[in-house]
Amino acid sequence: MLKGLERTEKQLDLYKNPDNDPRGSWASDNLLRTEEREYAIFEIVSPIGNKYLPPKGSSWRFNKDKIQELLSDNRIWFGEDGNSRPRYKRFLSEVRQDVIVNTLWKFDEVGHSDSAKKETAKILNESPNVFSTPKPVRLIQRMIKISCNEDDLILDFFAGSGTVGQAVLELNTKDNGNRSFILVQMPEPIEENSEAWKAGYRDIAEIGRARVRKVIEQIQAQATEKAQSPELFKDSENLTEQILASNPTGYNTATSRFGATT
Ligand SMILES: C[S@@+](CC[C@H](N)C(=O)[O-])C[C@H]1O[C@@H](n2cnc3c(N)ncnc32)[C@H](O)[C@@H]1O
Repeated sequence: MLKGLERTEKQLDLYKNPDNDPRGSWASDNLLRTEEREYAIFEIVSPIGNKYLPPKGSSWRFNKDKIQELLSDNRIWFGEDGNSRPRYKRFLSEVRQDVIVNTLWKFDEVGHSDSAKKETAKILNESPNVFSTPKPVRLIQRMIKISCNEDDLILDFFAGSGTVGQAVLELNTKDNGNRSFILVQMPEPIEENSEAWKAGYRDIAEIGRARVRKVIEQIQAQATEKAQSPELFKDSENLTEQILASNPTGYNTATSRFGATT
């Protein structure tokens, strides 16, 4: 089953506690349903005596007994001044802590082909046309977040520029995960005079290998910068060499200890 995603700051900001409810932050939710159900059409009386009926064509989401229960349990909100239409208090502590997203591929959250080309070029320090069809790192990370556990082995059999490698390495660094990955890329020759050819690549696997190496070096540099304990990265230098030396033949596979044992 697909897992949910962490609530974003924006989603968490919806939860407040204007009435200092001891149960913590809550968000007000609709108390109406858009159909008329006889048993759910009745007056709700607010603590200051205002009477509310559901508008025509709708009815309350709960029956009379349940509404009474919610009222006595201070779970119905009538606004700061007590004069607003009743709404249901939904406590953050009582809702799923992750969010099932209704759409998985929002550009502003997971990028798009153009941003993918730019981020591939940036890590490789090459022109954006060095590889024509990369996927955005955030898209791959979203897929991993909702479908993998933090110590899973992720196989990409059509590795291309190695986006999965970057996505896993950076995700592990971000959430201390222990994911590993295998990248498989056939030795598809690079077109002569293409940007990649001019940059010195002769087959696509070379691009993916270079990207994984660059990402490892970048993470290492950032870790050193953050003065993280040197032993965490002590063998990263010879690891990349191990990876690169491990399979000089046709199909190039790469496994990274930033998540796996070879
Ligand atoms: C669309 S690209 C993948 C791009 C990748 N997701 C990225 O973000 O860079 C597909 C890649 O699969 C490779 N490929 C196609 N058939 C393959 C096969 N049978 N075995 C290994 N690699 C293959 C192609 O050479 C190409 O680089």
